[in-house]
Amino acid sequence: MAPRTILYTGKGGVGKTSVAASTARRCASAGARTIVLSTDPAHSLADSLETAVGGGPTAVGGGLFAQQVQAQDELERHWSAVQGWLGGVLMERGVDRIAAEELTVPPGGDELFSLLALKQHAESGEWDVIVVDCAPTGETLRLLSFPDAARWWLDKVLGRENALLAAARPFARTFLDLALPDDKAFAEIQALVGNLVAMHELLRDARHASIRLVMTPDRMVVAEAMRTFTYLNLYGYLTDAVVVNRVFPDEVEGTYFGAWRAVQAEQLALVESGFAPVPVLRAPYFEREVLGDEMLDRLAGELFAGVDPAAVLHDRVTQELSLGKGRAELRLDLPFVSKGDVSLKKIGLELVVRVDGHKRTIMLPGALAGYRPASATLDDGSLVVGFEVQEPVRA
Ligand SMILES: Nc1ncnc2c1ncn2[C@@H]1O[C@H](COP(=O)(O)OP(=O)(O)OP(=O)(O)O)[C@@H](O)[C@H]1O
Ligand SMILES: [Mg+2]
Repeated sequence: MAPRTILYTGKGGVGKTSVAASTARRCASAGARTIVLSTDPAHSLADSLETAVGGGPTAVGGGLFAQQVQAQDELERHWSAVQGWLGGVLMERGVDRIAAEELTVPPGGDELFSLLALKQHAESGEWDVIVVDCAPTGETLRLLSFPDAARWWLDKVLGRENALLAAARPFARTFLDLALPDDKAFAEIQALVGNLVAMHELLRDARHASIRLVMTPDRMVVAEAMRTFTYLNLYGYLTDAVVVNRVFPDEVEGTYFGAWRAVQAEQLALVESGFAPVPVLRAPYFEREVLGDEMLDRLAGELFAGVDPAAVLHDRVTQELSLGKGRAELRLDLPFVSKGDVSLKKIGLELVVRVDGHKRTIMLPGALAGYRPASATLDDGSLVVGFEVQEPVRA
């Protein structure tokens, strides 16, 4: 059976590593065979766990295993032939060796290759739970939504038997002044696409895999998390919980941080409305850093009081967008709303929906910039918003 896979992502410094490590410790202590992987090149899993963590599964106490995936190793494993070919092409064009080496790794490639380690672990049958501490933002997950396009390209342009490529090779040199990839590089590209397609499927299997967005209750952090949430939904990735970390406790009332607490309360309300019905897990701002087993378990205790950390905490993708000719339709889960007046307001890319006194703020994807909301209907726990292309304003 596929293991439970939980990916934590969010803006820099919000507590991804701490939350990932504490989740993993709690799963391991409940008896699940658990590994926590870090794909962030700035590895801090070892600092968080206060123990050495290697480039392979390392026992870190409490029955838990941890691994800091080495992007360089993964790159060599999956990309060396392509690198050789591309590097040669670039150097022929006068790019020096060091720059050529840099340029042969696609942007975001490091983390993408690191994530392939997740696939190996998921297929190995050795783990019940895999927790991934991702690099900041959902960038990699956005990259991962490309396999459909890559597969299409490979099938249609190159053909299954690479007929076009085989035919083009002798001419490419003469007419294009370009060496086409050799068989080895080509095989590597195909294997990579295959791997990415498999990763994509693994991550979109909502019975086992989900993403949790970590944030602090700060305006800019919440806004970015909401944008990531929208993208994840649109790509069909399940977000089963959001984590609000570093919430000031009641004790700060009347102190220097009292005003901060009021601002945080506002942001917490925005989180509750923006991500509903996805559950919101909270943890307080502790009086010291979250380092070592004791603090990690304290953090887990706050986040998962009465909750199984390995459970799929919410099982539906809560927004769906379909684009048609000049029209778009957004489906939003609003399970608690029965009937009532719906009002919609779009300000820039923010859509504010009011139903029965509930307010939801949704960050729309850039593709909807030129659209305006035209209709809204409630349908079996969902709100369906129709959009039309905005007519240009005439002078
Ligand atoms: N609830 C908390 N209370 C106090 N300190 C915390 C809390 N959560 C995390 N920290 C501390 O905040 C710092 C950043 O946390 P962490 O490294 O987990 O964030 P991150 O999102 O992984 O950061 P990066 O984006 O750099 O990887 C660490 O020093 C950590 O110990
Ligand atoms: Mg980190």
